Parts: sequence; structure tokens; C-alpha cells
Amino acid sequence: MGVFDDVLKADQTLIKNDAALDYEFLPKILPFRDGEQKYIASCIAPLFRDTSGRNLMIHGPPGIGKTAATRHVLRELEEKTDNIESVFVNCWRTNTSHKIALDICDQVGFKFTQNMRTPDLYKKIAEIVNKRAGVFVFDEIDKAEDYDFLYTILESVYKKTIIIITNYKEFIIKLDERIKSRLMPEHREFGPYTEKQTGNILQERLKYAFFDNVWTEDAFNLVTEKAYSLKDIRQGIFLLKNSALVCEDKGQKKIQKEHVEEAIKKLSNFAVMGSDELDEDSQFILEIIKKNSGKKIGDLFKLYEQEGGKQSYKTFQRKLKRLDEGKYLSLTKETGAGGNTTIVNKKITDF
Ligand SMILES: Nc1ncnc2c1ncn2[C@@H]1O[C@H](COP(=O)(O)OP(=O)(O)O)[C@@H](O)[C@H]1O
Ligand SMILES: [Mg+2]
Repeated sequence: MGVFDDVLKADQTLIKNDAALDYEFLPKILPFRDGEQKYIASCIAPLFRDTSGRNLMIHGPPGIGKTAATRHVLRELEEKTDNIESVFVNCWRTNTSHKIALDICDQVGFKFTQNMRTPDLYKKIAEIVNKRAGVFVFDEIDKAEDYDFLYTILESVYKKTIIIITNYKEFIIKLDERIKSRLMPEHREFGPYTEKQTGNILQERLKYAFFDNVWTEDAFNLVTEKAYSLKDIRQGIFLLKNSALVCEDKGQKKIQKEHVEEAIKKLSNFAVMGSDELDEDSQFILEIIKKNSGKKIGDLFKLYEQEGGKQSYKTFQRKLKRLDEGKYLSLTKETGAGGNTTIVNKKITDF
């Protein structure tokens, strides 16, 4: 073997299919979630018999396949029948009843939404879905700004299954009584994967994403170990991608343990989703924080207002808290002469 055989040429890359390293990439087969998928399907099954379905709340920590399993069931449903409309809304990206209405209209094929008021949009949705039946999935439900949409759909659509997905099962307690009493969802908790399952899932993903033989066994095992200890497949995928980037940066052809170790250091910069997944105002806030890291929350709010931000201080605080939960930034408490203040820190690099 020549001494330069291990060197990557300028136009060479290790990644065959970048899209497979997106968090939203939905693999063809989703192992280890059969039971969960069957359960979701059982809640929808009554719609095939022309009666109403059961509602469902799915909960569990991030990165364990809640979204993937649900989207997988929807995909099968679409292949199986044209008589059931299915709608999937990410309530972090689409976070008000009005925006959700527009999103649903788009998904059920109603295009003439311009200048329509929110209640009229929901009337239209009910009219369309009531010709058949509907499955409505609201992912990241706790991130929505209001819940009128739930009430409206519960009241106006006859044959339906509403599935809500959240990391926080306590969320349901905070819902209005009028919604709770109508929704009455069944609960299904998703648990973490075992180490073997984690390795298996990441190995499959690796096959989709990388050229053959670019991963050394040691390096891959370290990714699995770390993802398992964090109980989060998404962070495992982050490591697959970033280890490869570290290796490419060094102009090397084979991903080694030390590349993964470097990628692990970047995990503190890990964000749950890409920032284009966020609502506009949160993206705007993140831009300001990038330029002004380490400031007190009150000072940051002043900057936000100066730059044209329109939300109240309370909403601003709530958005920061959510961005913290999503690991887009970190909030730290500092005790000074005037009591406690919150300091807002950006993540070190972008992902
Ligand atoms: N059983 C599985 N098989 C293959 N990929 C999986 C599996 N579970 C999760 N994933 C992948 O891991 C990532 C995180 O899963 P996701 O469904 O987004 O997690 P959650 O919604 O619980 O936060 C996604 O990219 C998803 O495709
Ligand atoms: Mg999810």
C-alpha cells in the first residue's frame, strides 16, 4: 500500500447520501417499533369500518422514534386507502391555530385560502374531511401557542383519530377542560432502545448514508456507545455525520475513533432539529442571540424590540425556554446583588 492511499482527493467525499443523515429522513423499514406501530394502527382501524377512531397521546424522551413510527404508519395508511385523509403537523414549526389551518388546507388539497379567516378555514377542512374520515397528527404538540385548533377539529370532524406527540406527558394536564373531556386520548409511552437496537438502527442508517468501508469498527462502536448512553438516536446520527466531516477535514479516507471523539465534543452544539424547523420569530431570536451571546435576558429583550421584535416579554421568555429545551441555546442562572437573572448563551457553532 502506498503512503498516500489513505488520503482523500479534493473531489472525494465519504458521504454517499447526505439526505439520509437528515433527522427527518424516514427509513423504509423501522425495526423495533412494531408493537408501537400496531398500536397506533389499532387506534385508526375503526375508521376503516366507518366509525370514529380513538385518539392517542404518544409520549417519551426525544430521539427514540416517536415521530418516525407515526409517520411510518401514515405512510402505510396512504398506501392502503384513499378513503381516509391523513394530516401531519409539526406544532413547533407551525405553531398557531391559523398557521395550522393553512398547513392542513394545503395537505388536504384546498388551495384557495387567501384572505380567509381562521374559522372559515376550519369549516372548509371539516367539509373536506367529513366526506371521508381523517387522521390528524400533531407532533411536538406542547410547542403550539394556542389549542383552539384541537377544540375546533374535535367538534367539527366526525370520523377521526387525533394523535398528539410530546416529550412531556404532563402537558395534557394543562389543556382546557373542554378539550380534555372531548379528546380523552389513550396513552402510549415510547421507551428507549437497548444498546444492541441502537447499534442496529445506526448501522442501517450508515448503509444508506456512507460509501462502503469508510467506517472502522472501533469508530462505529463508539458512536453506538455514546448514542446509547444518551438514549437518543438523533444524537447518534449527529455523530455519524460530524465524525465523517472531521475525517474529511483532515483529508482522510477512513473514519477512526479519534474522529468520533472530536465529534463528541461538538455534541454540546447539538440542536434537536435544524433551525429551519422553527417558527419565524424563534429563528429571529436565535439570530440576535448569535450576535449577542452571554447577555442578560432583559437586555436581550430590549435588543429584540429594537430590531423589530413584536412579542411581549412573557412570550419572549417562553420562546427562550423552548429554545433551551430544544438545545438551540442554553440558559444559565446567575445570582447577583439584585437577585437572580437568566443569562442567554448561544451554542458555539452552527449545525
Ligand atoms: N426504529 C428505528 N429505525 C430506524 N430509524 C429510527 C428508529 N427510531 C428512530 N429512528 C431515527 O432516529 C431519529 C430520531 O427519531 P424521531 O422519530 O425523530 O424521534 P422522536 O420523535 O422520538 O424525537 C430519526 O432520524 C429516525 O429516523
Ligand atoms: Mg419527534
